[in-house]
Amino acid sequence: MASPQQPWWNGGVLYQAYPRSFADSNGDGIGDLTGLHGRLDYLHRLGVDGIWINPTFPSPNRDWGYDVSDYFGVHPDLGTIEDLDALIAAAGEVGIRILLDLVPAHTSDRHEWFLQSRSSKESPRRPFYIWRDQPEEQEAVFGGTAWTYDEPTGQYYHHLFLPEQPDLNWMRPEVRDAFDEILRFWFDRGVAGFRIDVVHELVKDPPGQRNRPEIHKVLRRWRGLADGYEPARLLLGETWVLDLDELATFYGDSDELQLAFNFPFMFAGLDAAAIADVVRRTAEVLPSGSSPVWALSNHDVVRFPTRICDEEDAKVRLALLALFTLWGTSVLYYGDELGMRQVEIPTDRRLDVHGRDGARTPMPWGDVEWRDPWLPVGEGVATVAEQEDDPSSVLSFCRNAIALRRGRDDLVGGAYIPIAAEPGVWAWRRGDSTAVALNLSGSPASLSLAGDVLLSTSGRDDSSRLESWEGVVVALT
Ligand code: GLC
Repeated sequence: MASPQQPWWNGGVLYQAYPRSFADSNGDGIGDLTGLHGRLDYLHRLGVDGIWINPTFPSPNRDWGYDVSDYFGVHPDLGTIEDLDALIAAAGEVGIRILLDLVPAHTSDRHEWFLQSRSSKESPRRPFYIWRDQPEEQEAVFGGTAWTYDEPTGQYYHHLFLPEQPDLNWMRPEVRDAFDEILRFWFDRGVAGFRIDVVHELVKDPPGQRNRPEIHKVLRRWRGLADGYEPARLLLGETWVLDLDELATFYGDSDELQLAFNFPFMFAGLDAAAIADVVRRTAEVLPSGSSPVWALSNHDVVRFPTRICDEEDAKVRLALLALFTLWGTSVLYYGDELGMRQVEIPTDRRLDVHGRDGARTPMPWGDVEWRDPWLPVGEGVATVAEQEDDPSSVLSFCRNAIALRRGRDDLVGGAYIPIAAEPGVWAWRRGDSTAVALNLSGSPASLSLAGDVLLSTSGRDDSSRLESWEGVVVALT
C-alpha cells in the first residue's frame, strides 16, 4: 500500500477487467458489471487497488466498445448505470477504485455528433470531425485507407481505425469542451480515473503525425480537471510508443498523465539484457517521483504466457515476479494471475476485426460454468476454483507476491538499483534491504546475496544459487 503522502496508485496493483469476459451474472453468455461486482471478493483477496474496466459505454461493437455511441451511458449488454454506481460503491467498501476506459480519439459513426456532422457541411457539428475534399494517402491501423468518402456531402472523413470510428477533431475547442463535460460526469459519479485510449494520436489535424504538441495541451487541461477532485482522479494513458524518451513526454512536467503504459517493457520479452535495459532507461527518463506502469498483457496483444513464456509455468512466475517487484504501478490483465494462455479461436467463432479474440476469452472460474459464452472458454489452464486453495498454483503465487509487495516498504517506495549478475540473470535492489534476482536462462546461476529468501518462484530457499528459470526476492542482511 502506498504511504499516506503518495497517491494510491503509486506502488499499487491495477487489474484490467475485460467486462464481456470477466463474469456473467445473468447467464446470457456475456460478462457484465453485476458479474464483476460479484467477484470483488476475489479481487480483494488477490490484493488489487483498482480495476480498469474496458469500455462500458453504449457501442455498436464494431471494435468492441472502442466505437462509442454515447459517452454518458452503459452498454445494455453490460448492465445499467445503476449497476455501475453499485459496483463503484461496493468496490469502494473494500478499498478498490474503479477506472473506466475513455475513448476520446474517435466516436462510433452512430454517435449523434457524427450523424449530425455528416448530414451537412453547415452543421454546427461538422467541425467535430476531420473532413477533406482531397485527402492525402494514409493507411488505417486495421488496414485499408484512413479516409472514407461520404456521399451526401461529397467529402472524405478521417479514421485511424475502422470507417465506423470517425476521428474527432481535437484542434476544435468545442470538442475539448464536450470532453470536459464527459470527464466531470464520471468523476462526479465516483469514478477514480480513466485509462485513456490512443493518447499518443489524440490530436491529428493534419493526421499522420504522432505525439503532436497539442496533445500535451489537452493532457494539461485534463490534469487540471482531475486534480480538482479529492482524491485526485487518475489519468492512465495508452501511450503506445516504443521510444522511452517519447514515453516520458506524456508525464509532462508532472502536469500531464500521472501514469503512461510502458509498451517497451511489454515487448522486451524474457531476455535479461533487453528487459533490464528497458527498466534502467525507464528509471532514467521518467520525471523524478513519477510512477512507471508495467504490464505483461492486455486485450490487444497475445497473452504473455504464450507470447514470451512458451506456456511454461516457471517462466510465467518469473514474469509475474518481475511485474510485482518493480516500483510504480503494475497492471494485471484478467487471467494473468492464473497463467491464462492465448486461446485458439475456430474460424466460425471469430469476432474481432483485428484477430484479438484469443486474448479476450471468458475467465475460467470453475465454480460456475459459462453458458453459451460469446467467445469460447480456453482449455489448458487450471480454473480459479482449482487454483484457489492450491498453495503451489500460479494464483497463490500471485497473491503471495502482491501481499509481499504491499507489506514491504522497499517494494512500494524503494529505489530501483541494478545489481551486476551473471549473463542471463536480471537482478536489482529495492531500497536498502530487499533484492530481486531472476534467472532468465536455462542454466543454473550463482548469486552473491546475503539474506533470507522471502519468496521464490520454485519454493526453494537459497540465496546463493538460482536454478534455471528461477527467481527470488531476498531480505538482505
Ligand atoms: C486502442 C484499444 C484497441 C482499439 C483501438 C481503437 O488501441 O486498446 O482495443 O481497437 O484503440 O480504439
